[in-house]
Amino acid sequence: MNNHTSKTALITGATGGIGSELCRCLARDQINLVLVARNQQKLQQLSEQLQSEYGIKTHTMALDLAIPNAAQKLYQMLQEQGLQIDFLINNAGVGYYGRFSDSDLDAVTNMLNLNITTLVQLTRLLLPNMIEQGIGRILNVASLAAFQPGGPNAAAYYASKSFVLAFNRAVVVELKHTPVTSTAFCPGPLSTAFAKQGGFSATRLYRYFSGNTSKQVAKAYRAFMKGKSTVVPGGVNKLLAIGGEFPPRCIALAINKFLLQK
Ligand SMILES: NC(=O)c1ccc[n+]([C@@H]2O[C@H](COP(=O)([O-])OP(=O)(O)OC[C@H]3O[C@@H](n4cnc5c(N)ncnc54)[C@H](OP(=O)(O)O)[C@@H]3O)[C@@H](O)[C@H]2O)c1
Repeated sequence: MNNHTSKTALITGATGGIGSELCRCLARDQINLVLVARNQQKLQQLSEQLQSEYGIKTHTMALDLAIPNAAQKLYQMLQEQGLQIDFLINNAGVGYYGRFSDSDLDAVTNMLNLNITTLVQLTRLLLPNMIEQGIGRILNVASLAAFQPGGPNAAAYYASKSFVLAFNRAVVVELKHTPVTSTAFCPGPLSTAFAKQGGFSATRLYRYFSGNTSKQVAKAYRAFMKGKSTVVPGGVNKLLAIGGEFPPRCIALAINKFLLQK
């Protein structure tokens, strides 16, 4: 067991497939948790499980992180409750599948707010205190999609994840001589609620390549605790990530187009 007693982690999207696995990893290390998602009942259920299984302290904050100024609202809630955050896990995210010209503009805007804006704002709000306190770890959940030159039929989602990876890479360099680390977690396709919600379940990518959530999260957690800058779990995912960055880009685009068809 690592010596993280009395440390507190905030995790967004705590009740989902990846989020709840990460919660268990953190709880096993006796890290207290601030759990954030929209559904209060699910938050409460998870909170009670974690408290009774691991004996940690938990707080729940039910909030829609896709609304404007959600990060500021969350920050204010933390301040009101006197909670200091040592570890930030920006995990909440949604996908959107479909031809961009036919897409639902509100759904795409909400996705960008959640996947990009709230992640950036929350990091900006919590990072200075981590640097000042001399301790801090950030985990930004990106995706294997982040390495691809584009995702035909998931254009805005793939671009949102490339943003997260590029943002994390630059922050890592800026944090080099500080005690704080930032890690981008780039999982491959996983059979969580995400795939169904985002409309990806029937695509070739999800039918042929879906991986094991617990295994990928366990690898990500170890990399996060070591302060690694990027983690792509699994050999096949590593190959797909390298393939996405290999020139000429038109080859990876054609492969992504094929994989993102149903
Ligand atoms: N699953 C995959 O194949 C896959 C692959 C690569 C990357 N990822 C990334 O991994 C992250 C987590 O995905 P997952 O597979 O664990 O998804 P999931 O099982 O659908 O869980 C999503 C979590 O986010 C919360 N959430 C969704 N919208 C929210 C909002 N507007 N405000 C606050 N919380 C919200 C959900 O709870 P509520 O609904 O109660 O709010 C839930 O806790 C995402 O960033 C996703 O892009 C997933």
